[in-house]
Amino acid sequence: MDSLPLDRLDVISAKSYGEHGYPHEAWTRLRRESPVHLMKPDDYLPFWAITKHADIIEVSKQPEKFQSAGRFILFPENAGAGNTTKELVENPPLRMLVNMDPPEHRHYRQLVSGWFTPRAVKRLKERLEEITAEIFDELAADGGEYEGDFVRDIAVRQPLRMITEILGIPREQEDFVLRVTNENFGIEDPEFQREGDTREEGLAFLQEAFAYLDQITQDRRANPRNDLSTVLAQATINGEPVPQFELFSLYFLVMVAGHDTTRNAISGGLLALLDNPEEFAKLRLDPSLVCTAADEIVRWSTPVNHFSRTATEDYELRGQKIKAGDSVALFYASANRDEEVFEDPFRFDIEREPNPHLGFGIGEHFCLGAHLARLDLEVFFRQFAERVESIELAGPVDLLQASFVGGPKRIPVRYRFKPAARH
Ligand code: HEM
Repeated sequence: MDSLPLDRLDVISAKSYGEHGYPHEAWTRLRRESPVHLMKPDDYLPFWAITKHADIIEVSKQPEKFQSAGRFILFPENAGAGNTTKELVENPPLRMLVNMDPPEHRHYRQLVSGWFTPRAVKRLKERLEEITAEIFDELAADGGEYEGDFVRDIAVRQPLRMITEILGIPREQEDFVLRVTNENFGIEDPEFQREGDTREEGLAFLQEAFAYLDQITQDRRANPRNDLSTVLAQATINGEPVPQFELFSLYFLVMVAGHDTTRNAISGGLLALLDNPEEFAKLRLDPSLVCTAADEIVRWSTPVNHFSRTATEDYELRGQKIKAGDSVALFYASANRDEEVFEDPFRFDIEREPNPHLGFGIGEHFCLGAHLARLDLEVFFRQFAERVESIELAGPVDLLQASFVGGPKRIPVRYRFKPAARH
């Protein structure tokens, strides 16, 4: 790795993320030797790899100089199904917060932000405790030892149920929400890809999602309830109804970003605890450590690996001359191992404090669901620590082929939880 020219380092191909995980060795070299580096991989249009914590903050806090509309994620030119960067930029399949800019971005964000403030999220705590306890009760059943896939049987369930309850989506639709979410974030993973050569075929899951959103939106217009779907169904901006494409895009974003990322943090958290038994023992001894542990898990696993911005004017960053129109890729997972910010960054430390990680991004697009995600993780890992009697890997971990939002796809485990404790 140390002998490869910097330009040849692979920090972006989904296949490599699926085979080897996040490219921490390459990022460490880039942070040391060329933290703002122009990459020209074969299958991608060129982009600047931004790997330092301070530089990601500098870019993220200037949305007028680095815009989100356009190439907001890096996508290979040979992905098939007509999905090229040009298509993504000129004809985006979704227009949502993450590819919008101020002032429009703020109007859209305000439509939903009230549901995710610290105060609003605090009100969900009791329900979240119940949902989580129900999951562990089922897993414990008769107190016996079981084998299964931690991702499918455990990690996905609590965040999925919480976000669908916030949206008022009925339980019978959870599997549908999970499927379209997997197809969205797994678009480069053969396991989740749709058959077909056209863009329409490749993105057919979006059509299906929009058809469902149409149905639920119409229902809430006729029968309003106290849920986020009703708020979206009735939304207006400057007194005008929100156009359907933008409305469904926003809805889709909340629906998928609202659980997949947290599920990846739960899975990443489990792996970190298994790899660091002394930290796991500390958490079991004192489950109140979940508050700092939740942030350390997000830093460690960094489920959202990158977003990209486009420079609107020439800009000098760390001595490098970025030109108007250039793409800059913000590698949050690299920033979260920046040795200038984190002491011993490759140590998983559930008591790390302060922990100024960028796992939720920063600035204009700072994660809307950060408070909810933290609460999901705190409640999950507190109950997990209290109820787990044993858990170990029962086979090799399988990673998603994705360099945008990534993480474990399957974690075979053997486990035993204490039965039916009530919280
Ligand atoms: C551990 C879990 C999560 C992680 C790691 C995560 C990470 C992120 C990151 C890195 C961004 C982009 C920030 C930027 O570009 O500066 C983001 C944006 C966003 N997140 Fe999360 N997120 C998580 C959970 C959630 C949840 C539970 C929701 C539920 C609503 C959510 C909704 C969103 C939305 C709507 C945006 C777009 C915000 C905007 O563009 O203004 N996320 N998230």
